[in-house]
Amino acid sequence: MTSDIQVSKRTLGRTGIQVTPIGLGMMEFAGGGGLMGSVFPIIAQQEKNATVKAGLEGGINWFDTAELYGNGVSETSLSTALKTAGKSDQDVVVATKWWPLFRTARNIPKSIEDRLRFLDGYSIGLYMVHQPFGFSSKEAEMDEMAKLVKAGKIRSVGISNFNPDQMRRAHRQLQKYGLPLAVNQVRYSLLDRSIEKNGILETAKELGVTIIAYTPLESGLLSGKYHKNPELLDKKPAMWRARLRRSLEKSRRLVSGLEEIALRYNATASQVALNWVINSQGDSVVTIPGVTKASQAQENAGAMKFKLSSDEIEQLGTLSQAAR
Ligand SMILES: NC(=O)c1ccc[n+]([C@@H]2O[C@H](COP(=O)([O-])OP(=O)(O)OC[C@H]3O[C@@H](n4cnc5c(N)ncnc54)[C@H](OP(=O)(O)O)[C@@H]3O)[C@@H](O)[C@H]2O)c1
Repeated sequence: MTSDIQVSKRTLGRTGIQVTPIGLGMMEFAGGGGLMGSVFPIIAQQEKNATVKAGLEGGINWFDTAELYGNGVSETSLSTALKTAGKSDQDVVVATKWWPLFRTARNIPKSIEDRLRFLDGYSIGLYMVHQPFGFSSKEAEMDEMAKLVKAGKIRSVGISNFNPDQMRRAHRQLQKYGLPLAVNQVRYSLLDRSIEKNGILETAKELGVTIIAYTPLESGLLSGKYHKNPELLDKKPAMWRARLRRSLEKSRRLVSGLEEIALRYNATASQVALNWVINSQGDSVVTIPGVTKASQAQENAGAMKFKLSSDEIEQLGTLSQAAR
């Protein structure tokens, strides 16, 4: 694969920050740190370096991490890998998140220095509130986020797992500072299309907020590997195993449909599933498949190199209804 493939970019909300339709999810780099670190196996830094490099070579220009992903382990791994790949701060966009549970908004200015230290010279292009449950109001959280933008500590503000009403409150509060709400990061895939019905997607489109779709491969299920080799599920952390086993039979026809379409593009089922996520809603959705190895980063980046037809998007939409 050649270096620095050009992929047309999308703007995060109304921020002017340009990202490729696919970024890399770094939750899988949490192994060894804090609560999340006990869920994920430890990946050697050398493999993390190769994974980030493969994503960059496939054209990817941004990375999604969080405080929760190992209390700095994922962020440090990412900055080390970017440095090893010879990328400067200007070459990439880093997104990270503040964890609000059992905290007040006053923790936002306190913990930002930790984020910046772990990112070691890579600036925070997008800083999100990870989920809506905290001790402070949405307004108080947005006040602190806005102060970070004004202080030059972060470039833009986002939220994650917020419902439509919470999105509107965050958007309204940032407007008071003349700032856009950049994104809402939520779950979205062919097997979980709830944002199309619960008002999140509609509200995002109305407010000009980009949706960042997480779990776009349903933890690997949409690749078809567990349908072919169910014993692979024994190696998956328990947190996912039962859910994936339950979904196996119902999603079989959808995965066959993905594989059938993939043949037309010399692609894989995973690439078609990701292509559906980034193209079924115009430019409104970007996505961050999580990766544990370089080959996955290379494959997932390859999902940006073709575009499903509207008939194919509809066909997959129909198959997805029966699979959920
Ligand atoms: N904001 C939130 O609340 C929130 C919640 C969850 C996730 N996220 C973010 O979203 C990212 C992605 O979500 P996710 O990790 O839950 O789900 P995902 O992207 O649907 O699944 C990722 C997993 O699928 C497997 N995989 C990836 N590419 C593959 C390929 N090409 N072929 C076969 N298997 C492949 C890998 O697992 P194996 O190698 O183990 O098979 C990988 O860990 C995370 O990294 C994180 O940044 C955010």
